[in-house]
Amino acid sequence: MLKLRNVTKKFGELTAVNNLSFEVSQGQVFGIAGPNGAGKSTLYNLISGLYSFEGSILFNNKDISGLQPHKIAKLGISRTFQIPQTFPSLTIEKSIGVGNYFGSRDGFEPSYVDRIIDFVNLTDKRKKLTGQLNLLDKKMLMIGAALATKPAILMLDEPMAGSNAKEIKSLMELIKRINQDMGITIIIIEHFMKVLTELTERLLIIETGTEICCGDPVEVTSDPRVIECYLGDSHD
Ligand SMILES: Nc1ncnc2c1ncn2[C@@H]1O[C@H](COP(=O)(O)OP(=O)(O)O)[C@@H](O)[C@H]1O
Ligand SMILES: [Mg+2]
Repeated sequence: MLKLRNVTKKFGELTAVNNLSFEVSQGQVFGIAGPNGAGKSTLYNLISGLYSFEGSILFNNKDISGLQPHKIAKLGISRTFQIPQTFPSLTIEKSIGVGNYFGSRDGFEPSYVDRIIDFVNLTDKRKKLTGQLNLLDKKMLMIGAALATKPAILMLDEPMAGSNAKEIKSLMELIKRINQDMGITIIIIEHFMKVLTELTERLLIIETGTEICCGDPVEVTSDPRVIECYLGDSHD
């Protein structure tokens, strides 16, 4: 469904993504992990069309390299950000409506917006301004706005960051429902190995932009090269 071929991104002297090739199949939950600065978020920025790069990215066999971000979104690739981005002066329903209005190929559909608000468990708070929300609700809102674009692929950037155990559980349940009930393919960048091994079917580990290994998440997380580069002393 999504295929990266020899993708490289340099910022001046720094190679943030180094000759990466991998494939995500339809319906999969695909994980990406690696130390801070490994190039994970940059990879999302390349897939969503924010920067030019070397190599190519194919979505359903169509080369999307060089397409503008709004065109890539309309084709069905949506993403969230590491730090929740909301419109503080808009209500939840308006914010999710913005995603639907600007991102969906089918145009604005209020009933679809209602369905998404419900799906992310924000119906009771739909009239609240997003600036007043706690971190978990902001995350739910950001995921809801991304879902409102009717994506085929949803890319989540460290969705669990800063969350407590209960919030992690809610987010994991939501991600499973997005994948299983809505049939949306998911790419997830995450640090929590437990989350990755429970949610993902395939896991890619990168360090300084380069692939360390890719495969079954349980095997990958017990690979000595991964323990060395990524888990380090915290593996216990
Ligand atoms: N727009 C940019 N300009 C220059 N350097 C950048 C830019 N974006 C990211 N980088 C650098 O690229 C590397 C990878 O960053 P990033 O993709 O954010 O890592 P990760 O998400 O894995 O923590 C880092 O060294 C970062 O400083
Ligand atoms: Mg990042």
